[in-house]
Amino acid sequence: MIAYATNQFESAGAQPPQISVIGTGYLGTTHAVCMAELGFQVVGVDVDDLKVAQLADGILPFFEPGLEELLRKNLEAGRLTFTTSFPAATTADVHFLCVGTPQRPDSPAADLRHLGAAVDALLAAQPKPGSLLVGKSTVPMGTAAAVATRLAAEAPEVLLAWNPEFLREGFAIEGTLNPDRIVLGLPDDPAARARAEDILRAVYASAIESGTPVVVTDFATAELVKVAANAFLATKISFINAMAEVCEAAGGDVKTLATALGHDARIGPRFLAAGVGFGGGCLPKDIRAFRARAEEIGAGTAVRFLAEVDAINLRRRARVVEFATELVGGSVPGRRMAVLGAAFKPNSDDIRDSPALEIAELLRTAGALVTVTDPAAIPNARRRYRELRYADTAFEAVDDADLVLHLTEWADFREIDPALLGGNVRNLLVIDGRNTLDAGKWRAAGWSYYALGRPNA
Ligand code: UDX
Repeated sequence: MIAYATNQFESAGAQPPQISVIGTGYLGTTHAVCMAELGFQVVGVDVDDLKVAQLADGILPFFEPGLEELLRKNLEAGRLTFTTSFPAATTADVHFLCVGTPQRPDSPAADLRHLGAAVDALLAAQPKPGSLLVGKSTVPMGTAAAVATRLAAEAPEVLLAWNPEFLREGFAIEGTLNPDRIVLGLPDDPAARARAEDILRAVYASAIESGTPVVVTDFATAELVKVAANAFLATKISFINAMAEVCEAAGGDVKTLATALGHDARIGPRFLAAGVGFGGGCLPKDIRAFRARAEEIGAGTAVRFLAEVDAINLRRRARVVEFATELVGGSVPGRRMAVLGAAFKPNSDDIRDSPALEIAELLRTAGALVTVTDPAAIPNARRRYRELRYADTAFEAVDDADLVLHLTEWADFREIDPALLGGNVRNLLVIDGRNTLDAGKWRAAGWSYYALGRPNA
């Protein structure tokens, strides 16, 4: 049940702040919908006509459980609109900056072009004096200070805060409405700081009332919380994948190792699932951008280990290709391989830096006939990897396969009856790249089941 944040304004006879969300990608759309769900009047702004038209029609351009229903509900309630017009957003009291900061094509650093263009467009449209610009995008340290310098010169009455977002795809609504913490990076000037804090505490009143901790800090720390959190998570995953490499050499079982490590409350069990490693639009590019920025500000040595975190992660992909090659007898050309999974993780149609698709493509370029299936990501995969073959179901994908590779751990794949699936393949040979299939069940159904970092006998 969602407590409507705006009720408090109505009972106090005040108008709740109006909100604009600039950039309607994953983060911005989720934020806009959730703010409207809390009862705020929200306008989403984007330069992409098609995306804006789809959102205004209640069509979510990506897959996120539960979000399309909430989008439609709030459009119908009249609390949410979408536009390509920045002037239409200038009546808002709070502008959330949610544009993408992808990796630059020519370097590991973050590409801040969209962020710069969004600030340009907002300033050209002349936001209301006293309104608050809130950065939510993941940015290199120093970005907020640079935006603050621009505001001071061009729109001195507009306030700035940095409020990073930690949402995970597949859990985006929950992550926005009930975050683990709210981080507020605020300006140094005491009056500006107090005003920005008041506005943001009002916007996040329902989460704060239900006990979400608030960390109030400066711009640089707020920026750093986000990149440091992602660096820590990436390191945790690469740590267990490094242990998988050691287990392979020592004859140990990384899954049991992770269970035993996770019982130590100081370590904890989450993000210790060994397999083909991390992908997606955040962890890989964020650790690279973090290193690049740390180098620039003279702190490169401190995060040099992130190069190894990246290398361990990419090695897992190469290892699966090597393993697949060994299992089909050393020669890949002409071998039929079925890949279960295309999205970078389950409950998502996001294929950015997907380990599953990179492995599928490497096997295809080595000459294998690779067929990929995924419950949600096939349309995106088809657009990007045109030469892979695609099937709607796992049963079709494995038709006459020499080898099956399980690379994204959708529940649908876990629920497959291996005895039934076995009827469609040429060889009962499976690599479980995510360590989530029931090895005993697959073996009992006659399959030779192989996993990473686990004894394969
Ligand atoms: C991540 C952060 O979790 C989130 O806080 C931040 O805001 C954005 O980046 P997301 O990219 O949605 O979120 O995915 P996440 O669930 O963190 O998974 C990232 C990758 O790590 C996936 O490819 C996943 O399969 C992989 N992973 C995760 C593992 O390989 N092992 C694990 O134990 C956990």
